[in-house]
Amino acid sequence: MYKIAVIPGDGTGPEVVSQGIKVLQAAAKKFGFKYQTKVFDFGGERYLKTGKTLEDSDIAQLKEYSAIFLGAIGHPDVKPGILETGILLKLRFSLDQYINLRPIKLYNPAFCPLKDKKPEDIDFVVVRENSEGLYKGMGEFQNKGTKDEVAIQLSYNTRQGVERCIRYAFEYTRKRNRRKKLTLCGKTNVLTYAWDLWQRVFNEVAKEYPDVTTDYAHVDATTMWFVKNPEWFDVIVTDNMFGDIITDLGAMIQGGMGIAAGGNINPQGVSMFEPIGGSAPKYTGKNVINPLAAICAVGMMLENLGEEQAGKAIENVVIGLVGKDLKSLAAGKMGYSTTEVGDLVAERLK
Ligand code: IPM
Ligand code: MN
Repeated sequence: MYKIAVIPGDGTGPEVVSQGIKVLQAAAKKFGFKYQTKVFDFGGERYLKTGKTLEDSDIAQLKEYSAIFLGAIGHPDVKPGILETGILLKLRFSLDQYINLRPIKLYNPAFCPLKDKKPEDIDFVVVRENSEGLYKGMGEFQNKGTKDEVAIQLSYNTRQGVERCIRYAFEYTRKRNRRKKLTLCGKTNVLTYAWDLWQRVFNEVAKEYPDVTTDYAHVDATTMWFVKNPEWFDVIVTDNMFGDIITDLGAMIQGGMGIAAGGNINPQGVSMFEPIGGSAPKYTGKNVINPLAAICAVGMMLENLGEEQAGKAIENVVIGLVGKDLKSLAAGKMGYSTTEVGDLVAERLK
């Protein structure tokens, strides 16, 4: 029995999450696993009413679950930063979800903004470090509010944090067994402390994986290759900030935020799966948002729980739908409503 904590969150989060649950239900029936869900109301609305983001007792509760399914966090009436750090980053950090796994896969060339790229050209995975770096929030103001103000924001990289991320990436590349190529994406030419450590650890760990081909690309060049030669990539490992940036670009070349899903993974603990598109306030409540990213997040969650067949089946249904049925992956342009897309996936899973 899987215990799934569901956090619908803000904006379009609840709409896409209910389609994800619809698909989860269909998958459970077809593949014969059992689950129960409990909904948690963390998010902007609750914050505006109670002033609470996420308490330590909430975290303690979540630790009892097999996995977390998250919709979106972000509210137009709440100052940027409060919900992001108080809820999303707090979840990632306190549950030690130290990997952010973001597959970039093109399902239909018609939805790719790049010319002449086929599905086999855009099929790679970004392993983003998810617990350190600039996201650690270290730094300070000096002489705040004066003409001599200095704002310092530090990137925090521990040997252990870097090593566990790099090891995960090597293991993942081996297990994925596609081109068995792992690219370190960094900035060794400028950020000479952090990326010196990353590069050293990468080279050391690489010796244990002679079957994995290694490569290095600066982050700026990486964005160039995403557009010019995405077929060069198989698995990419990078730090928190660079991973955040390059995976938005990755989402665009795979067809947009409507399809991009990610997993916040703690290999020894509770992992959390989410569509990466955000709360999309302008589409909220209109039944037009694309739920496929949330549905793909459910697929990733099931694979992670060991229901690999169910995960693959969901992905295959999504591939079929994106390949033949949807007019677009963008909100309001799919040719179907949010709920209709959820129904179609659930129906075809049978
Ligand atoms: C993401 C988001 C978050 C991040 C924000 C909402 C804090 O952009 O999941 O990529 O920066 O990690
Ligand atoms: Mn992001």
